Amino acid sequence: MLKVQVSVGDPLALERDALVVAVAEDEERLKGVASKADKKLNGQLKKLREWKEVKGKLGEVTVVHTLGLMQPRRIALVGLGKRKELDAEKVRRSIGSAVKALNKIGCEQIAVAIDDFSGEGIAPEALGRAVAEAAILASYQYRRKSAGDEEANLRSVELVTANRRFAAEVEKGVQLGTILANATNFARDLVNAPASEMTPTALAEQAKSVAAKWGLKCEIYDEHWIEQVGMGALRAVSLGSDQPPRFIVMRYEGAESAPTIGLVGKGITFDAGGLCLKTAEGMLEMKGDMAGAAAVIAAMDAIAQLKPKVNVIACVPATENMPSGRAFKPGDILRTFTGKTVEVVNTDAEGRLILADAIAYAKEQGASPILDAATLTGAAIIALGPFCTGAFSNDERLLQEVIEAGREAGEPIWAMPMFPDYRELIKSDFADIKNTGGRPGGAITAAWFIGEFVGDTPWVHLDIAPTFWSDKEVHYLSKGATGVMVRTFVQFVLRRSNR
Ligand code: BES
Ligand code: MN
Ligand code: ZN
Repeated sequence: MLKVQVSVGDPLALERDALVVAVAEDEERLKGVASKADKKLNGQLKKLREWKEVKGKLGEVTVVHTLGLMQPRRIALVGLGKRKELDAEKVRRSIGSAVKALNKIGCEQIAVAIDDFSGEGIAPEALGRAVAEAAILASYQYRRKSAGDEEANLRSVELVTANRRFAAEVEKGVQLGTILANATNFARDLVNAPASEMTPTALAEQAKSVAAKWGLKCEIYDEHWIEQVGMGALRAVSLGSDQPPRFIVMRYEGAESAPTIGLVGKGITFDAGGLCLKTAEGMLEMKGDMAGAAAVIAAMDAIAQLKPKVNVIACVPATENMPSGRAFKPGDILRTFTGKTVEVVNTDAEGRLILADAIAYAKEQGASPILDAATLTGAAIIALGPFCTGAFSNDERLLQEVIEAGREAGEPIWAMPMFPDYRELIKSDFADIKNTGGRPGGAITAAWFIGEFVGDTPWVHLDIAPTFWSDKEVHYLSKGATGVMVRTFVQFVLRRSNR
C-alpha cells in the first residue's frame, strides 16, 4: 500500500527519485520551489517554459534529470492549468498524471513541493486531501500478468513544505484522503475481480472481513432465509444460478439516538441477462454489476475508521443473473418483500428487482434516508455519457444534499427528472407493476420502479452505470473499475454527522 506523508523541510534537499513541482498556465514565470529548482539547474527550466515545451496545461508532465545539481534525481514539472481556476479536482488530475508518469519510469520514492499547488480556490486541508487521494488512486493497478507487477514501483509520496503551520493543515487532509482513496481502491478490487471469483458468497466474506476488522455488526443471510422472509424478487433472480444468493447487512452504530442512514448497493456479481440473454459484448463488463454493492461495503470500511456520530445500515442483495433450466422467466409474476407483485417482462431488468427487496428491508429496519447505488441501466449511459452519475429522488432537499456531497467528494452527480407521467409506463395488466417500461426514458422508469418500494422514506437512487467503469487510463483513473460513490457516500455521512 502506498504511503503518503507530510514533512517539514527543504524539498530540494531530499534524496528522492523525483520531486514534483507545479507550473501554472497563467503565470509567465516559474514560482515557488519550481523557481528555486530552476536556479540550481542554471535557468534551464525557465528556458523550457520560454520555448513553450512546458506550457502548464492541466495534466502536462515534463520529467527533467537533475544530473547531480541537486538532491532529487529528477524534477517533474506538472501543469496546473490556470492557477485562478485551480480547485481540488484539478489538483487531483495534475498529481494523478504526475504519479502515473513517475510510476511508469520506475520511481519508488517521490516528493511533492506542496506549496506549489496552492491557490485561492483550495484551502490547505482540501489540498492535502486531494493530493493524497490522487496519489493513491493513480498508483492503483489491477494486474494478473504472469511476469509480475513490474510497473508498480511507487512506495511513498511525501508532501514537503518549509511552513510548519501549513503542514499541519495539509496533514489533516492527507489522513482523510488516505482513508477515502484506500476505500475506493478496495471497491475497485471487488469490482475488477473476475465474476468466477467474486461470487455472492465471496462478496459476503469480504463484507464480513471488513466488519471484523473494525468491529461492525454484520449479518449474512442465505437462500433459505431469503425465501422464508419473502424476498421473492431476489429469490427469482437467483434461481438460474448455481451460486447461492446472499443478503448482506452491515451496521455501524456511532450515535445513541440518531436516525439510521440506509445505504443499499446492487450486488449482481455477474449479469448474463438471465433467459433474456445479453450479447457477448454486452456481458463483458458485467462482472462489475456489483459496483453499487462494492461502493456500499467500501464506504462502510471508511466510515468505521472515521467514526462519525451517526448510525448507518448497509444492505446488499447479492446474486448472479444466469440463464438455466431453473431460471425465472418472462411472464413470471413475483411477490416481493413488501407484498407488492411484479410482472417480469425482461429478465435482464434484474437490478431493480433485487433492489426492491433490499430497500424494503432497509425501510423495515428503520433506515431513513435511503441512498442506493446501482449499475442499473444502459439508458443512463446513453443519457449522460461517462462523466457523471444520474440521480433520482422523491425528496428535493435530500437530492441537493447528495449532489453537494458528490461535488465535495469529486464525484459529479446530475439530477434526472421524475415526472409522474413516467410511472404510467410500468403499469402492468397482471400484477401491481412490471419490471420494464421500454427503451425511451429507461433510466427514469427503472427509478420509478424502485421508488414504488420506497414509499415516503426520503430516498436518492444513484445510477452508476455511466461511471462505474473507465475505458481510459487518464489522470487518477485506470482502465476498469472506478470505485465511484465510495467517496460520495462517506462525504454524505460525514455531513450528517456534523450537522
Ligand atoms: N446491469 C445492466 C445495466 C448496465 C448496462 C450497467 C451496461 C452497466 C453497463 C442491467 O441489469 C440491465 O441489463 N439493464 C437493461 C434493462 C432493460 C432490459 C430494460 C438495459 O439497460 O438494457
Ligand atoms: Mn441486467
Ligand atoms: Zn444488471
